[in-house]
Amino acid sequence: MASTAPIGVFDSGLGGISVAREIRRDMPNERVLYFGDSANAPYGTKSPEQVRELSDTIVERFVQQGVKAIVIACNTATSAAANELRDKYDIPIIGMEPALKVACDRGHGNRQHVIVAATPLTLRERKFAVLMDRFKADHTIFPQPCPDLVEIVERGQLDDHDVVMRALHRYFDQYDLSTIDAVVLGCTHFVFYRDYFRELLPDTAAVIDGNEGTVRHLGVVLESLGKLAPEDAQGGIELSNSDTSEETAKLSRSLLDR
Ligand code: DGL
Repeated sequence: MASTAPIGVFDSGLGGISVAREIRRDMPNERVLYFGDSANAPYGTKSPEQVRELSDTIVERFVQQGVKAIVIACNTATSAAANELRDKYDIPIIGMEPALKVACDRGHGNRQHVIVAATPLTLRERKFAVLMDRFKADHTIFPQPCPDLVEIVERGQLDDHDVVMRALHRYFDQYDLSTIDAVVLGCTHFVFYRDYFRELLPDTAAVIDGNEGTVRHLGVVLESLGKLAPEDAQGGIELSNSDTSEETAKLSRSLLDR
């Protein structure tokens, strides 16, 4: 596969656009084919088998399109499907996981109190249990499923301050937020809520997502394979979606330019 081949990036819907945006920022010479599966979103309330099947169909399509690597810009699909996809396809497949390590490391040895906001499926899967096991003896971790935060993005209600803040209060009022050191955004849809989380949380609490780490990892993998796009290559993002409505196309573009 040529280094000028595109990178396939997919999510259950529009959340992964936050990752595509980060790729554009960090690696402007790369060509990205983005696929959002909004017709089948959300993944986070589906069974792992359903998510595996949907992810497999998308990866198959990317392979037909000749991509040089695939980024699963979805914590949920990574938990449910990444291992099987890597076994099946002979192409680099980069996944995501909640950036719990980044949150815990901020304490430099002191116990951190961390909320991990993610989808119900991500928090139920074995991958998350293994991640928790690494940190739970030394830190206090609160896994918090937030399925409505996916729906709000998919319905184009992200700019509706009341709707968003009501949902955030419903999930987070149960915590004494003054004791929380960090909230990990363990779902790519949630990255679009950063400013709302800032409004909800005291200044002492960090808001952490895994996008930067994922894109850095993508760069390392491509470089090690000699597949980084040359500096004179024309990069860009092509958006497509299983929901082919003009509304979704417009929403996707506005999220990309947000
Ligand atoms: N954006 C996805 C994630 O990172 C999943 C959202 C969903 O479809 O439930 O987990």
